[in-house]
Amino acid sequence: MPELKGKNMLITAGPTYEAIDPVRFIGNHSSGKMGIALAEEAIKLGAKVTLICGPSSVPSTESIKRVDVISAQNMFDAVMLEQAKMDVMILSAAVADYRPKNVAESKIKKKDSGLSIELEPTPDILDSLGKLKTKNQLLVGFALETDNELENAHSKLKKKNCDLIVLNSLQDAGAGFGHETNKVSILDRHNNITTFELKSKAEVAKDILRLITDY
Ligand code: CTP
Repeated sequence: MPELKGKNMLITAGPTYEAIDPVRFIGNHSSGKMGIALAEEAIKLGAKVTLICGPSSVPSTESIKRVDVISAQNMFDAVMLEQAKMDVMILSAAVADYRPKNVAESKIKKKDSGLSIELEPTPDILDSLGKLKTKNQLLVGFALETDNELENAHSKLKKKNCDLIVLNSLQDAGAGFGHETNKVSILDRHNNITTFELKSKAEVAKDILRLITDY
Protein backbone atom coordinates (compact mmCIF):
# COMPACT_ATOMS: atom_id res chain seq x y z
CA MET A 1 0.00 0.00 0.00
CA PRO A 2 2.07 2.95 -1.26
CA GLU A 3 0.41 5.65 0.85
CA LEU A 4 -2.42 6.05 3.34
CA LYS A 5 -3.61 9.43 2.02
CA GLY A 6 -7.30 9.19 1.12
CA LYS A 7 -7.53 5.54 2.21
CA ASN A 8 -10.46 4.32 4.31
CA MET A 9 -9.13 2.92 7.54
CA LEU A 10 -11.00 1.15 10.33
CA ILE A 11 -9.41 0.84 13.75
CA THR A 12 -10.84 -0.95 16.79
CA ALA A 13 -9.58 0.10 20.21
CA GLY A 14 -10.12 -0.28 23.92
CA PRO A 15 -11.71 -2.99 26.03
CA THR A 16 -15.23 -4.38 25.80
CA TYR A 17 -17.59 -4.69 28.76
CA GLU A 18 -19.80 -7.75 28.97
CA ALA A 19 -22.82 -7.24 31.23
CA ILE A 20 -23.50 -9.60 34.14
CA ASP A 21 -26.48 -7.60 35.45
CA PRO A 22 -27.52 -3.90 35.18
CA VAL A 23 -24.58 -2.75 37.35
CA ARG A 24 -21.78 -5.28 36.79
CA PHE A 25 -19.67 -6.40 33.88
CA ILE A 26 -16.67 -8.49 32.84
CA GLY A 27 -13.96 -6.26 31.36
CA ASN A 28 -10.19 -5.86 31.09
CA HIS A 29 -7.48 -3.25 31.69
CA SER A 30 -7.13 -1.99 28.11
CA SER A 31 -7.05 1.83 28.06
CA GLY A 32 -7.61 2.30 24.32
CA LYS A 33 -4.39 4.37 24.09
CA MET A 34 -2.67 2.21 21.43
CA GLY A 35 -5.64 2.15 19.05
CA ILE A 36 -6.37 5.85 19.54
CA ALA A 37 -2.67 6.67 18.90
CA LEU A 38 -2.96 4.69 15.63
CA ALA A 39 -6.09 6.66 14.67
CA GLU A 40 -4.38 10.00 15.43
CA GLU A 41 -1.26 9.14 13.41
CA ALA A 42 -3.31 7.78 10.49
CA ILE A 43 -5.32 11.03 10.32
CA LYS A 44 -2.04 13.00 10.16
CA LEU A 45 -1.05 10.85 7.15
CA GLY A 46 -4.29 11.78 5.38
CA ALA A 47 -6.31 8.58 5.93
CA LYS A 48 -10.07 8.70 6.51
CA VAL A 49 -10.33 7.04 9.88
CA THR A 50 -13.26 5.28 11.54
CA LEU A 51 -12.47 4.41 15.14
CA ILE A 52 -14.68 1.81 16.78
CA CYS A 53 -13.89 2.20 20.43
CA GLY A 54 -14.88 0.31 23.56
CA PRO A 55 -15.26 2.18 26.88
CA SER A 56 -12.22 4.50 27.11
CA SER A 57 -11.70 7.91 28.69
CA VAL A 58 -9.05 8.81 26.10
CA PRO A 59 -10.31 11.57 23.77
CA SER A 60 -9.73 11.66 20.00
CA THR A 61 -9.55 14.45 17.41
CA GLU A 62 -12.82 15.51 15.81
CA SER A 63 -11.69 14.56 12.32
CA ILE A 64 -11.73 10.91 13.41
CA LYS A 65 -15.17 9.33 12.96
CA ARG A 66 -15.56 7.74 16.39
CA VAL A 67 -18.19 5.12 17.14
CA ASP A 68 -18.33 4.35 20.87
CA VAL A 69 -19.47 0.84 21.77
CA ILE A 70 -19.73 -1.21 24.96
CA SER A 71 -19.79 -4.96 24.29
CA ALA A 72 -18.08 -7.33 21.85
CA GLN A 73 -21.42 -7.76 20.09
CA ASN A 74 -21.80 -3.94 19.72
CA MET A 75 -18.24 -3.75 18.35
CA PHE A 76 -18.88 -6.63 15.93
CA ASP A 77 -22.10 -4.97 14.65
CA ALA A 78 -20.41 -1.56 14.22
CA VAL A 79 -17.44 -3.12 12.36
CA MET A 80 -19.70 -5.13 10.05
CA LEU A 81 -21.56 -1.96 9.00
CA GLU A 82 -18.27 -0.34 7.92
CA GLN A 83 -16.02 -3.17 6.71
CA ALA A 84 -16.98 -3.41 3.02
CA LYS A 85 -15.70 0.08 2.16
CA MET A 86 -12.41 -0.19 4.09
CA ASP A 87 -8.92 -0.37 2.57
CA VAL A 88 -7.09 -1.05 5.85
CA MET A 89 -8.47 -2.56 9.06
CA ILE A 90 -6.44 -2.63 12.26
CA LEU A 91 -7.91 -4.55 15.17
CA SER A 92 -6.19 -3.36 18.31
CA ALA A 93 -9.17 -3.72 20.67
CA ALA A 94 -8.91 -6.10 23.63
CA VAL A 95 -12.23 -7.79 22.91
CA ALA A 96 -13.60 -10.06 25.65
CA ASP A 97 -13.48 -13.66 24.45
CA TYR A 98 -16.44 -14.66 26.65
CA ARG A 99 -19.63 -13.07 27.94
CA PRO A 100 -22.25 -14.19 30.47
CA LYS A 101 -24.72 -16.48 28.73
CA ASN A 102 -27.67 -14.90 30.53
CA VAL A 103 -27.71 -11.26 31.64
CA ALA A 104 -29.72 -10.84 34.87
CA GLU A 105 -32.48 -8.24 34.46
CA SER A 106 -32.10 -6.99 38.02
CA LYS A 107 -29.07 -6.66 40.27
CA ILE A 108 -27.92 -10.06 41.54
CA LYS A 109 -28.32 -10.13 45.34
CA LYS A 110 -25.58 -11.47 47.58
CA LYS A 111 -26.18 -14.91 49.07
CA ASP A 112 -24.17 -17.00 51.51
CA SER A 113 -23.48 -19.61 48.83
CA GLY A 114 -21.04 -19.04 45.97
CA LEU A 115 -22.05 -17.78 42.56
CA SER A 116 -21.28 -19.34 39.18
CA ILE A 117 -21.75 -17.45 35.95
CA GLU A 118 -21.98 -19.44 32.75
CA LEU A 119 -20.01 -17.87 29.90
CA GLU A 120 -20.36 -18.22 26.15
CA PRO A 121 -17.95 -17.10 23.40
CA THR A 122 -18.33 -13.63 21.87
CA PRO A 123 -18.19 -13.20 18.09
CA ASP A 124 -14.57 -13.11 16.86
CA ILE A 125 -14.36 -9.89 14.85
CA LEU A 126 -10.88 -10.48 13.44
CA ASP A 127 -11.73 -14.00 12.35
CA SER A 128 -14.93 -12.79 10.63
CA LEU A 129 -13.04 -10.03 8.78
CA GLY A 130 -10.41 -12.57 7.69
CA LYS A 131 -13.18 -14.60 6.06
CA LEU A 132 -14.77 -11.56 4.35
CA LYS A 133 -11.49 -9.92 3.28
CA THR A 134 -11.09 -9.03 -0.41
CA LYS A 135 -7.69 -8.99 -2.13
CA ASN A 136 -7.55 -5.19 -1.97
CA GLN A 137 -8.07 -5.03 1.79
CA LEU A 138 -5.25 -5.16 4.32
CA LEU A 139 -6.09 -6.76 7.67
CA VAL A 140 -3.92 -6.23 10.75
CA GLY A 141 -4.49 -8.09 14.01
CA PHE A 142 -2.95 -7.70 17.45
CA ALA A 143 -1.78 -10.55 19.66
CA LEU A 144 -0.94 -10.77 23.32
CA GLU A 145 0.82 -14.00 24.17
CA THR A 146 2.44 -15.29 27.33
CA ASP A 147 4.04 -18.49 25.95
CA ASN A 148 5.74 -19.30 22.63
CA GLU A 149 5.02 -15.72 21.59
CA LEU A 150 6.26 -15.74 17.99
CA GLU A 151 4.98 -19.21 17.17
CA ASN A 152 1.50 -18.47 18.57
CA ALA A 153 1.35 -15.07 16.89
CA HIS A 154 2.30 -16.62 13.55
CA SER A 155 -0.37 -19.32 13.80
CA LYS A 156 -2.94 -16.64 14.78
CA LEU A 157 -1.98 -14.67 11.64
CA LYS A 158 -2.54 -17.75 9.44
CA LYS A 159 -5.70 -18.96 11.19
CA LYS A 160 -7.40 -15.55 11.09
CA ASN A 161 -6.18 -14.74 7.55
CA CYS A 162 -4.42 -11.48 8.55
CA ASP A 163 -1.72 -9.77 6.49
CA LEU A 164 0.16 -8.51 9.53
CA ILE A 165 0.02 -9.23 13.22
CA VAL A 166 1.34 -6.90 15.93
CA LEU A 167 2.69 -8.87 18.86
CA ASN A 168 2.58 -6.99 22.16
CA SER A 169 5.34 -7.89 24.53
CA LEU A 170 4.34 -8.80 28.05
CA GLN A 171 7.96 -9.40 29.03
CA ASP A 172 9.01 -5.77 29.17
CA ALA A 173 8.28 -3.34 31.99
CA GLY A 174 6.46 -0.30 30.61
CA ALA A 175 4.81 -2.16 27.72
CA GLY A 176 1.14 -2.86 27.17
CA PHE A 177 -2.07 -2.18 29.08
CA GLY A 178 -2.39 1.28 30.64
CA HIS A 179 1.21 2.31 29.96
CA GLU A 180 2.25 5.29 27.85
CA THR A 181 4.82 3.11 26.11
CA ASN A 182 4.73 -0.17 24.21
CA LYS A 183 7.12 -2.71 22.70
CA VAL A 184 5.99 -4.67 19.67
CA SER A 185 7.13 -7.09 17.01
CA ILE A 186 5.32 -7.20 13.68
CA LEU A 187 4.98 -10.46 11.74
CA ASP A 188 3.89 -10.84 8.13
CA ARG A 189 2.65 -13.76 6.03
CA HIS A 190 6.14 -14.39 4.62
CA ASN A 191 7.67 -15.11 8.03
CA ASN A 192 9.34 -11.69 8.27
CA ILE A 193 9.56 -10.39 11.83
CA THR A 194 10.38 -6.77 12.69
CA THR A 195 11.10 -6.07 16.35
CA PHE A 196 10.99 -2.54 17.72
CA GLU A 197 12.35 -0.92 20.87
CA LEU A 198 10.21 0.23 23.79
CA LYS A 199 8.80 3.61 22.76
CA SER A 200 5.79 5.91 23.17
CA LYS A 201 2.51 4.60 21.76
CA ALA A 202 2.53 7.46 19.22
CA GLU A 203 5.94 6.27 17.96
CA VAL A 204 4.76 2.64 17.91
CA ALA A 205 1.73 3.76 15.89
CA LYS A 206 4.07 5.47 13.37
CA ASP A 207 6.13 2.24 13.07
CA ILE A 208 3.01 0.15 12.46
CA LEU A 209 1.66 2.57 9.83
CA ARG A 210 5.08 2.77 8.12
CA LEU A 211 5.16 -1.02 7.85
CA ILE A 212 1.63 -1.02 6.39
CA THR A 213 2.68 1.57 3.82
CA ASP A 214 5.73 -0.49 2.86
CA TYR A 215 3.83 -3.79 2.71
N1 CTP B 1 -10.29 -10.20 18.54
C1 CTP B 1 -11.50 -9.90 17.93
N2 CTP B 1 -12.67 -10.42 18.44
C2 CTP B 1 -12.65 -11.21 19.51
C3 CTP B 1 -11.42 -11.52 20.16
C4 CTP B 1 -10.26 -11.00 19.64
O1 CTP B 1 -11.51 -9.18 16.93
N3 CTP B 1 -13.80 -11.67 19.99
C5 CTP B 1 -9.05 -9.69 17.94
C6 CTP B 1 -8.28 -8.68 18.77
O2 CTP B 1 -8.69 -7.35 18.51
C7 CTP B 1 -6.86 -8.91 18.28
C8 CTP B 1 -6.84 -10.40 17.96
O3 CTP B 1 -8.21 -10.78 17.80
O4 CTP B 1 -6.60 -8.22 17.08
C9 CTP B 1 -6.15 -11.30 18.92
O5 CTP B 1 -6.83 -11.45 20.10
P1 CTP B 1 -6.33 -12.49 21.21
O6 CTP B 1 -7.26 -12.34 22.37
O7 CTP B 1 -4.84 -12.37 21.42
O8 CTP B 1 -6.53 -13.86 20.47
P2 CTP B 1 -7.60 -14.95 20.58
O9 CTP B 1 -8.05 -15.27 19.23
O10 CTP B 1 -8.64 -14.55 21.57
O11 CTP B 1 -6.77 -16.20 21.04
P3 CTP B 1 -6.19 -16.62 22.47
O12 CTP B 1 -6.98 -15.86 23.50
O13 CTP B 1 -6.39 -18.06 22.48
O14 CTP B 1 -4.75 -16.22 22.40
